[in-house]
Parts: sequence; structure tokens; C-alpha cells
Amino acid sequence: MMISITPLGYAAGAEVTGVDFTQPLDNSTRDTLYSAWLKHIVLVFKGAEQLTPEQHIAFSRNFGKLDGHESQVPETLYPGLPEILLITTKPIQGKPSSSRNAGRNWHTDLSYSTRPAKGALLLCKEKPEVGSDTLFANHYLSYETLSPTMRAFLDPLECVHDATLIKGIEKRDPAHVAEMKRRNPPVIHPLVRVHPETGRKSLLVNERISGIVGLTDEEGTMLLRFLNQHATAQEFIYRHRWSVGDIVLWDNRCTSHIALADFDTNQARLMLRCSLEGEVVSGRLAERVEAESKESLLQAIAAAA
Ligand code: OGA
Ligand code: MN
Repeated sequence: MMISITPLGYAAGAEVTGVDFTQPLDNSTRDTLYSAWLKHIVLVFKGAEQLTPEQHIAFSRNFGKLDGHESQVPETLYPGLPEILLITTKPIQGKPSSSRNAGRNWHTDLSYSTRPAKGALLLCKEKPEVGSDTLFANHYLSYETLSPTMRAFLDPLECVHDATLIKGIEKRDPAHVAEMKRRNPPVIHPLVRVHPETGRKSLLVNERISGIVGLTDEEGTMLLRFLNQHATAQEFIYRHRWSVGDIVLWDNRCTSHIALADFDTNQARLMLRCSLEGEVVSGRLAERVEAESKESLLQAIAAAA
């Protein structure tokens, strides 16, 4: 069967047809899909509702090494298959799922760790009647559309990423949250990153950043507000409206995404995710500097650098 790749949006997104993801891919098919992924940033595969978890894992391995999800709450992993993470509104072991409100602000997966994810393959198994789309923002475009003067100003800057800024984290099980915080102290990443495969620069900004190193709190807050607004402007977005059986593969190295909460959360939404491990450690822990306030933390990190 011939593979076809049809763009779905200007900023990102392409639908791929003609792939039998229940079978191993031959090299040329794999290369075609991989290049299409780098080019279109988000790939959509339809009709995967019968895929077994093992097939989902095997297909995902074509795009990189899988994350064993050590950073995640064990209850949200597929029983016996830690390569699969459950993002679901359905109770897990009789308790509300701690992933029921995952992704509710603009974020880049694992940017609160020193090794942000390479990408992920999210498979929709069950969905609510309406709503719950996922939006992806192309951060190459948001970088490239800034003025040369602004880009030159941003290029050397670094930001503090903080897992406690995950929206809705306070609604999760307090024991899980404490463990999450313990495993994920604030980390520092470059504000502008270079994609390891395409070599293109993109903005690493999202709504889980507490400040910009070296700027005052007020300066950083203002600049981040502008950058987040710019990065998530309509023209940089691909919006995915889910159907059961869709697999969406995104490149986390040049994007952010958000899972909209515009649905009846009493209805079942069940997504299975294989995550691609980041290739490099691009961040460093921010905890080595002691500071009383956030403001002095940002200054102290700058002074220590
Ligand atoms: C994710 C995520 C989006 C969604 O899996 O990383 O943010 O729509 N999920 O569930
Ligand atoms: Mn996510």
C-alpha cells in the first residue's frame, strides 16, 4: 500500500495513510515517516483502535527510545507495561486518576526535568461526546517571526521551569504531588533551543516557567507573558479533534501543547501514551543556589553562572 502524507495545517500537522502499524516497518517506510515527522512536527495516524499495547510500543520505537516513565506516578502506568502511560478521566484502582486533568496549561513534556521528552505517541481509546481537543504550537515559527533584535536579546537567556506550575496539580493526591515535587526540583533551560536533528532554533517557553534568570521578577513576568501569548497565537497552532483510534505523534523539541478541558469530565476519556525519551540532558538543577525569594533566586542564579 502506498503511503500518503497530507498536510492538515500550515503551522503543523499531517495525516499519514497507508501504514500498517501492526507490522514492523521496512527501512524506507520508516525513513519516510521520520522525515515527515521532522517536517510536519505532528503526524496523525487514523484507524488504530485495534492496536494492542505491544503493537503501540513496537510502532513507537521507530521514532526513538521509549521512556520507562520513572518520573510518573506508578498507578498511571499500563499494568505490566510501564512504557505506556494512561491519561484518563476514568478511575484507576477505584481512585480518581491523577492524570485526569493532565496537560491543562501550555507545556512541553518534561520541561520541568533536566531531560525534556523527544516526543510522544498518544492513542485515543475512548473519548467524550464533544470537546477535549489537543492543541500543538509550532515554536520554530514563533521564534522565527520575532524581530532580529528580540531574537538576539533572547538567544543567551535561560528560564527556571517548575513542576509545581502544572495546572490543577493541587487537585491531585497530596502524596503523589509531594513525590512529584521531590523528584522534580526547579530546573534551568535555555530559552532558545536548537533542535538536535533539524538544527533550527525554537522558543522553549510555556506556562510552567517561574522566571527568567538574571531579570527581575517583574521583567521576567512581563516578557514571559508576551512570549507565551506570541508562541500560542492562532497562526502557530495545529488543533487536533480526536476520533477513537487516532494516534498523534508530536515532536516535543520544537513545540508546546495543551489539552482543553472543554468536555464533560464525567465522561470517559482514555488515552494511551508511549513517550520518547529526550536524547540529551539540556537542563541543570536550580536548587544549588539558596535564595529567600523568587526574585533573589533569579538574581543569584545569574550571579553564580
Ligand atoms: C500528554 C498530554 C494531551 C491530551 O500526553 O503529554 O499533554 O490531550 N496530553 O491528553
Ligand atoms: Mn503533555
